[in-house]
Amino acid sequence: MEAPLVLGIESSCDETGVGIVRGTTLLANTVSSSMEEHVRFGGVIPEIASRAHLDAFLPTLRQALAEASVALEDVDALAVTSGPGLSGALMVGVAAAKALAVATGKPLFAVNHLVAHVGVGLLGAGELPSNLGALLVSGGHTEILRVRNLASDVELLGSTIDDAAGEAYDKVARILGLGYPGGPAIDNIAREGDPTAIRFPRGLTQPKYMGSAEEPGPHRYDWSFSGLKTAVARSVEQYEARGIPVPVADIAASFQEAVVDVITSKAVLACRENGISNLLLGGGVASNSRLRAVTLQRCDDAGISLTIPPAGLCTDNGAMVAALAARIIMDGGTPSGIAFGTDSSLPVTTTHL
Ligand code: KG4
Ligand code: ZN
Repeated sequence: MEAPLVLGIESSCDETGVGIVRGTTLLANTVSSSMEEHVRFGGVIPEIASRAHLDAFLPTLRQALAEASVALEDVDALAVTSGPGLSGALMVGVAAAKALAVATGKPLFAVNHLVAHVGVGLLGAGELPSNLGALLVSGGHTEILRVRNLASDVELLGSTIDDAAGEAYDKVARILGLGYPGGPAIDNIAREGDPTAIRFPRGLTQPKYMGSAEEPGPHRYDWSFSGLKTAVARSVEQYEARGIPVPVADIAASFQEAVVDVITSKAVLACRENGISNLLLGGGVASNSRLRAVTLQRCDDAGISLTIPPAGLCTDNGAMVAALAARIIMDGGTPSGIAFGTDSSLPVTTTHL
């Protein structure tokens, strides 16, 4: 089918998203976030997120349909994130999508959230570049992917072995008393700090983890942020123990430098060693000013062309789900039926069910 009209549903974390696309054209991208309900806990509480999805789904759906000026009956297909993500949160979106599919008789496509973050690059562009890689950095993921074919051939090259980068920002912001979400707060205050004030550790960069190009170590393209978070906590404790005011801006800037340095250096290494000449940067942390600047600089130096979708398409949304499903449909993919379940750890190699 040429340019199918697809409605995509996203509910894997704290954003309830409904997006509508026609082929590779974006018609609507409506998102309702439960972020504020998580503020006092300093992180996303799954049960609260699930309940918020339930409350937000119908209003978000109605708004997206109105924004796109389409009726549910006009839609050619429905799509939903079935994983990876928070189990209970995924279930709300999947149940809603199945209900809509049964009520309307429309085909339903269950898609992979991570691959959808890449699929969003189709919108307005028509095609994705060849030799494509994707660097996804958010509160839920830190991953470098090789994308040979969006609908059928995506490979995980590296990922975090503990915290996601956004999670590290949120935890460090809490240690520094900067509130939640931590990313924007640290990004802001870091501008007033010295990024070289403290040399925080860059996880998994020792030779035993990196190995060499010929003989890669076990974590050549992987990241770890839990040691960095602990190092920040120790540093704050030391200032407090000595009765010295904590240099919050310097610590924030030095922490951010460590995160951005290790993310970008490993991502560019993975691209160079895997023949990737086009990189897409996605996820909520793609809004980070320092990450954008350093990624751009290092990609430039390595001859890699960098694409960063607009902020509203980088964070979790339903348009990316619809965009991926539209591509799958245009490639002749078959619908998922309604018997599938959610999979909180769906591997990136499964682009759709
Ligand atoms: O993609 P997203 O909206 O949701 C998921 O995590 O799936 O990303 C949210 C994360 C949060 O951890 C937040 O702290 C981080 O993105 N973030 C940032 C910035 N803006 C949002 N991190 C660093 N710098 C920013 N400017
Ligand atoms: Zn995401």
